[in-house]
Amino acid sequence: MAMIALKCPDIQVVVVDISKPRIAAWNSDELPIYEPGLDEVVKACRDKNLFFSTEVEKHVAEADIVFVSVNTPTKTRGLGAGKAADLTYWESAARMIADVSKSDKIVVEKSTVPVKTAEAIEKILTHNNNGIHFQILSNPEFLAEGTAIEDLAKPDRVLIGGRETPEGQKAVAALKAVYAHWVPEDRILTTNLWSAELSKLAANAFLAQRISSINAMSALCESTGANVSEVAYAIGKDSRIGPKFLNASVGFGGSCFQKDILNLVYICECNGLPDVAHYWKQVVQINDYQKTRFVKRVVSSMFNTVSGKKIAILGFAFKKDTGDTRETPAIDVCHGLRGDKALLSIYDPQVTEDQIKRDLAMNKFDWDHPQHLQPQSPTAFKQVSVVWDAYEATKDAHGICIITEWEEFKKLDYQRIYNNMQKPAFIFDGRNVLNVEALRKIGFIVYSIGKPLDPWVKDLQVSI
Ligand code: UDX
Repeated sequence: MAMIALKCPDIQVVVVDISKPRIAAWNSDELPIYEPGLDEVVKACRDKNLFFSTEVEKHVAEADIVFVSVNTPTKTRGLGAGKAADLTYWESAARMIADVSKSDKIVVEKSTVPVKTAEAIEKILTHNNNGIHFQILSNPEFLAEGTAIEDLAKPDRVLIGGRETPEGQKAVAALKAVYAHWVPEDRILTTNLWSAELSKLAANAFLAQRISSINAMSALCESTGANVSEVAYAIGKDSRIGPKFLNASVGFGGSCFQKDILNLVYICECNGLPDVAHYWKQVVQINDYQKTRFVKRVVSSMFNTVSGKKIAILGFAFKKDTGDTRETPAIDVCHGLRGDKALLSIYDPQVTEDQIKRDLAMNKFDWDHPQHLQPQSPTAFKQVSVVWDAYEATKDAHGICIITEWEEFKKLDYQRIYNNMQKPAFIFDGRNVLNVEALRKIGFIVYSIGKPLDPWVKDLQVSI
């Protein structure tokens, strides 16, 4: 919305939320999320044509176009638990829009939703419409965190799905005109509603599938002596495959991939396509396997136990340049190591202690609910400390796990770190960002995903 405000000075944008602290933060100098470049965009338009308000109903009533970007968590109980999207928040937003509207409106699905959600929303709106006309559009968001501003300023494509009726097409044209302020026409794709909804799930499933594919290869590389980076480079040179999204890792995280695939799986099952559902489910299963495999490598390398040993966790965000921890592989790795009674010392340049402790206390899928439904004062874990410096985190540690590929981790003084660690000193690089040879020269025992194994690790009999 901030980008729309920046690129369309003739359009007034009001971002509304029922959370007072969140809106207060958007109106302050300290924005509630960390995203490179966002501060500048918000500060350039705030109080000119970009406003943040808790007066939800007033502003919805006044708007011509309403973008709905509410949470769509994975259901944890009832029909479809563990897979289907919970549309409670979407449904109440739609009912509120119907209640307060006094003029015709275009309602845009911005939250990622299951295919055919638009149909359900349309029914809620039209059955409560008081003579007002609503057009539903699907306009999925493809930006990635950390590069959001760049992705929004120069998108590969903008996708708008609408009804194939004259009114539907008019609404599509109206939204297209908004994006046309800065996006070249040939990059604004228009489709029917269901294609747009499905394309979002499909895009994320394809991207995640590439990561699970290279991660599956990383396991085979470790067994055979191949190097996953060399394999990725070699296959990426095939222009049909391409070089992007082939970095082996401890596993993918983020608010979208797992959730959207589980959603896709559920939709396939509901449509009587169990084989297709099974196919996509594997992408998530390989991701879980990769995280478990990493923990097993750590524990088995360190004489089959980490009980009472200090392990430094460098990085908690699900990727670099974001403070976002939703579905971060760090959570599963920390749980796995705590299960073996490790003492964890965690450092991330952008994630607060409160957030880390909240994440470790949370039940699966709870992150997508409003904060008041999450653990408020998470129990202090005796086994976990959060520190604000990588040197402090690694002091007296037996091992280090790199979970996020922050640039600063590449530049640390590893000789200094080594000198202050217990011996033998282990490093487990879950992101393949460190110089393995240089670390081995210092004296570290190094494990790097999908790379030829250190003789120490190789000699261990582990079933992974
Ligand atoms: C993703 C999609 O890229 C974006 O189009 C969609 O709108 C939302 O979901 P995001 O979750 O912000 O964006 O991050 P992305 O860059 O896709 O990374 C997702 C996860 O995959 C991260 O944990 C990242 O570290 C991991 N990853 C990515 C890999 O492990 N290897 C890779 O090669 C690329």
